[in-house]
Amino acid sequence: MLNSRQMMARASFGASSLIHTSHPWHLSDDLPIAVVIVDAEPKFTGFLPPSCCTASVCAPASRPPAPSSPSPATTWTARTSCPPVCQAGRGPRPFARPLNVPFLGSLFMSHLTIEPSILYFGTPVVLLSTENEDGTFNLAPMSSAWALGNVIVLGLGAEGHTARNLAERPELVINLPAPHLWEAVERLAPLTGRDPVPASKADRSRFEPDKFGAAGLRAQPSDGVRPPRVAECPLQFEATAARVGLDVSGSFVIAEAVVSKVHADPRIVVPGTQHVDPAAWSPLVYNFRHYFGLGDQLGHSYRSQTPGGVPETVSATAGS
Ligand SMILES: Cc1cc2nc3c(=O)[nH]c(=O)nc-3n(C[C@H](O)[C@H](O)[C@H](O)COP(=O)(O)O)c2cc1C
Repeated sequence: MLNSRQMMARASFGASSLIHTSHPWHLSDDLPIAVVIVDAEPKFTGFLPPSCCTASVCAPASRPPAPSSPSPATTWTARTSCPPVCQAGRGPRPFARPLNVPFLGSLFMSHLTIEPSILYFGTPVVLLSTENEDGTFNLAPMSSAWALGNVIVLGLGAEGHTARNLAERPELVINLPAPHLWEAVERLAPLTGRDPVPASKADRSRFEPDKFGAAGLRAQPSDGVRPPRVAECPLQFEATAARVGLDVSGSFVIAEAVVSKVHADPRIVVPGTQHVDPAAWSPLVYNFRHYFGLGDQLGHSYRSQTPGGVPETVSATAGS
């Protein structure tokens, strides 16, 4: 039910993508129960800002195309600000972001309570190379990895060969594949370096002693650790697991790997600096067991040392 003030609130959807009303809405009793936008797409997109800016560096190619035929609302595009690259005068770059029409709905959304079988909400894939008991090397994909300063925290199945290798021989390389390597990663998915295959993995895994060969990836010697790097991976971290222990469930091992050396493909490094260029590097993201790359940049942290791809003259410090 709408109260009288809501009934009187005359809302309009302005060119800034904000909802304007004749008075502020109060969370307690004034929120509308629905926003319904009724119009044809050409009229709707025509009402939106036409491009990020009118500067010559924002070439027509970077502007949204004129609407031709009706398409779903979620494919409409709007530009409300210049991309950092454009402002830096480095030329046009597509920077469209979806007009967030679904977000308007989410203001009034009631969530479902669900029980998903997995909670892998989208984290980068890494390939861990570790040393086997006989001096050969294992390679395993995993995605439960994240950085704390120069420590990478890894979550590994306790029954897997990688967890066992790390408990005995803590040196490893954390290799980060780019999105185009997803098929090589998937070739590794059903393989384990453990022989015999443990009963808990028998239905989905088979033993493979040569994981590099099976994936079609090349081993490249490391500088300071025994396991090799994956040559095709643009980022490679040599590391040593300083702490390896069971998690609360007892089913997983958490390893804290201290990074000692970072190798980066020159094409993803801002020239003349120690910075990875976020516009050039894209991780392979494992999103509820599907593979994705990155979409267009949305913005950057106030702490970014590479805003717009142009590095600031501050020294690198740990932190996020
Ligand atoms: C994209 C991807 C991500 C994975 N993430 C993890 C993970 O975070 N932790 C884990 O223990 N296993 C993960 N796995 C499963 C292991 O790769 C799999 O259990 C493999 O058999 C381990 O090999 P290993 O026994 O030789 O160590 C992942 C697999 C794929 C394909």
